[in-house]
Amino acid sequence: MRPTSPPKTYRVKSFGCQMNVYDGERMAELLDAQGIVPAADGDDADLVVLNTCHIREKAVDRVYSDIGRLRRDDGSSPLIAVAGCVAQAEGDEIMRRVPAVSMVVGPQAYHRLPGMLDEAVAGRRSVDTDMPAATKFDVLPARRKVAASAFLTVQEGCDKFCTYCVVPYTRGSEISRPFADLIAEAERLVGAGAKEITLLGQNVNAWTGEDAKGRGVGLDGLIRSLAQIADLRRIRYTTSHPNDMTEGLLIAHAEVEKLMPFLHLPVQSGSDRVLKAMNRSHSVASYLKVLGRARAIRPDIALSGDFIVGFPGETEAEFAETIALVEQVGYAQCFSFKYSPRPGTPAATMDSQIALEVMDERLQRLQAALQKSSLAFNQTSVGRTCEVLVDRLGRREGQWLGKSPWLQSVHFMGEAAIGDVVSVELTEAGPNSLAGRLIAR
Ligand code: 5AD
Ligand code: SF4
Repeated sequence: MRPTSPPKTYRVKSFGCQMNVYDGERMAELLDAQGIVPAADGDDADLVVLNTCHIREKAVDRVYSDIGRLRRDDGSSPLIAVAGCVAQAEGDEIMRRVPAVSMVVGPQAYHRLPGMLDEAVAGRRSVDTDMPAATKFDVLPARRKVAASAFLTVQEGCDKFCTYCVVPYTRGSEISRPFADLIAEAERLVGAGAKEITLLGQNVNAWTGEDAKGRGVGLDGLIRSLAQIADLRRIRYTTSHPNDMTEGLLIAHAEVEKLMPFLHLPVQSGSDRVLKAMNRSHSVASYLKVLGRARAIRPDIALSGDFIVGFPGETEAEFAETIALVEQVGYAQCFSFKYSPRPGTPAATMDSQIALEVMDERLQRLQAALQKSSLAFNQTSVGRTCEVLVDRLGRREGQWLGKSPWLQSVHFMGEAAIGDVVSVELTEAGPNSLAGRLIAR
């Protein structure tokens, strides 16, 4: 690589989960602090960061094709950094195969991006997939720009080792960020205009720390302290593991008004045999017990989950158990995926991988059941008046979009502004959104 001039503009493209969105924002802030500015819409950027996801499908192929598309008509390319979980898992291979990439940086090392950028400008390529003990959070610049609804990573990594999942390998083992740092970051987010904070973690409900008085607290303790921030209106958290769900966290849903009535609790399958093969360490019955307790404590709580169809060896009868679970629970909204073998995970080499056509067909049936469930849930909201946090302009003139406490998308007409919490009567329900009438601003 020949030396290049320092980049003046950048673009960060994030794929995958909400934590990648958060990391992407932090990388952007890091570049802002270097005096590099975001490229205007439609303009070429001098530096492109591809913040990749490795959880499913042909993640690596996609990165290669995205890099290919960055080549300009005159044959030149911007400076390219590959970040995120594909960088962590396949960084060396990417460097070997694609000379146009000058930086590969893993999810725990991206605070070192400015130094890598200096190297790249001097014509040297670098890979940093370390998981250093001193975390990136200690050295990242302060938060400045935020949306009405902001993310805050409180916990990272996973020690659960579900047999299909790459996260323990790409994000490392579970760490909780310190309580005081999180309160400070949340205060800055709210000071910069956030009305809602979603606490993020691969196992967010495994978060532990020590509060201001030195007492050991769990996620519920953190939430109770965050609720003291006056201008913060709403708190959410995702993603939780069924085994880390505590009574204290469930009770917080009844006692902390700012904690929204929504629980995302992935189950993956409705079959105990499949759950065991997945190394999920919970059963269908223990999962249902947690949901039952959540509903007893907070009867209107909206339930959500993740599902995988076509895990190796999944029989038709076992898949039918998943459908039966969906019908029994009455989920508000869910994510569902075809099983995707991830290199290096135990399930990738298990016997009896399921044919793609079978997975396609099962996914369709599951999604039909989930749509039916979401529609039924949304229909029970019709007639209710609730608070909606306005987060976007709608497509039609005078239309606004926002979220109900149950994380439903709501659209309505009238006078409002992004960041408002308005009172809306819910009038009509579809499987993915509701129409409402503005009652008061
Ligand atoms: N194949 C399909 N889906 C997966 N998930 C994680 N790993 C895989 C995989 N190998 C899904 C799980 C998880 C969500 C974030 O992604 O449902 O909860
Ligand atoms: Fe992956 Fe399982 Fe950890 Fe979730 S709990 S991140 S699915 S290993």
